[in-house]
Amino acid sequence: MKIMVTGGAGFIGSNFIRYILRQRPDWEVVNYDLLTYAGNLESLRDVQDEPRYKFIRGDVADASSVETALQGCAGVFHLAAESHVDRSILDAAPFLRTNVLGTQVMLEIAQKVGVERFVQVSTDEVYGSLSLDEPAFTEELPLKPNSPYSASKASADLLARAYFKTFSLPALVTRCSNNYGPYQFPEKLIPLLIRNALADKPIPVYGDGRQIRDWIFVDDHCDALVTVFEKGHPGEIYNFGGQCELMNIDLVKTVLKILGKPESLIKYVKDRPGHDRRYAMDISKVCSQLDWRPKFIFTQAIAKTVQWYLENLDWVESVTSGAYREYYQQQYGDR
Ligand code: NAD
Ligand code: TYD
Repeated sequence: MKIMVTGGAGFIGSNFIRYILRQRPDWEVVNYDLLTYAGNLESLRDVQDEPRYKFIRGDVADASSVETALQGCAGVFHLAAESHVDRSILDAAPFLRTNVLGTQVMLEIAQKVGVERFVQVSTDEVYGSLSLDEPAFTEELPLKPNSPYSASKASADLLARAYFKTFSLPALVTRCSNNYGPYQFPEKLIPLLIRNALADKPIPVYGDGRQIRDWIFVDDHCDALVTVFEKGHPGEIYNFGGQCELMNIDLVKTVLKILGKPESLIKYVKDRPGHDRRYAMDISKVCSQLDWRPKFIFTQAIAKTVQWYLENLDWVESVTSGAYREYYQQQYGDR
């Protein structure tokens, strides 16, 4: 079976492609990615020569390019997105273009080509924010996004529902919590703090640092996506999370401790506008209906993650310096 992964050169996408090639030996994978600043073929260097893997550079908002790339694919995992909340606050326009219009194009072409499964990779951020005493998000809650990023993802999420209801496109929606692991672009909290700490630079902690996120190791998310593809029901929404709620400040201190760096590097800075206080996922639906639960234990997986960044400082520097673009030019020319 051939499947398409959009955004496969990003953080979750590159881990997901590696996961599929390892776990599903009879699957072929088309990685469809525009290679924005966040997409790096460096993250897939170890699988680039695998015969079951093919890379196509393209924009999810470009219907004819998507249609050509999607020929022969039985399924789509739609991950491509502008994904950083802080960037969406500076300029929301690319978020609407890629996350909303791009998703509509992907759904439309998937419908036209007749794919058997379309997995819309959404996020816990579509639910908005929780107070400390509220129960975790369930799939039935109304969407109350607070950032341009989460509003664009909520729109995409609802478009997947609309294409299921109106056109019977077999779309399934996953909403997962914050991922951590190898190959995350160093603008997100964990890789940014590792990079800064290694250079003895300040670690910016927004506001009082007491915001809570539910952290999941990226391979657990990859497993969740395959589980939904194979066992989920079209039209359904599935929450995923790591069952690991942590305050940002505690997470920062944990990583500094693993690195052997002092807490004096922590610098409290102005808060993010509209900063969500707490995310927490109720995953009872996927536990009972799909027999899924997170396998990785935070203390072990975060240590493994930190170790990966320590052993891959070249990757960190190449993706932040744009050196991968030169590599891409060498490999693929102007394609
Ligand atoms: P990322 O920013 O690391 O990767 C995004 C990828 O999409 C990049 O490779 C980029 O080149 C590609 N892309 C961007 N615009 C494109 C376009 N117009 N056409 C084709 N490709 C384009 O993001 P990520 O953290 O890997 O997240 C992947 C998906 O998972 C996103 O949809 C995100 O909303 C969702 N998600 C992420 C998390 C998380 O913690 N990172 C949690 C839940 C859901
Ligand atoms: P981030 O990795 O950007 O993910 P998201 O905003 O999608 O949850 O941020 C995780 C948390 O860390 C979030 O509460 C914002 C906070 N944060 C900081 O305190 N400092 C930083 O430099 C960054 C990037 C994030």
